[in-house]
Amino acid sequence: MYVCNCNGIREREVRAAIEAGARRPAEIFRACDSTPRCARCVCDMRELLDEQAEALKFAAE
Ligand code: FES
Repeated sequence: MYVCNCNGIREREVRAAIEAGARRPAEIFRACDSTPRCARCVCDMRELLDEQAEALKFAAE
């Protein structure tokens, strides 16, 4: 599934960027060698970032 249609960034690429240390959408774009265009995907990226942060929180407990 595509998260960013402008740059063709898939969900798995976003998740890989997050696992590699990206903590903000700008860092995800950088990790994917892309730049924001319309920025409609930023909300979805933030949801994936929050999801990952929540998973790490549970893992730490
Ligand atoms: S959908 Fe990602 S920049 Fe447009």
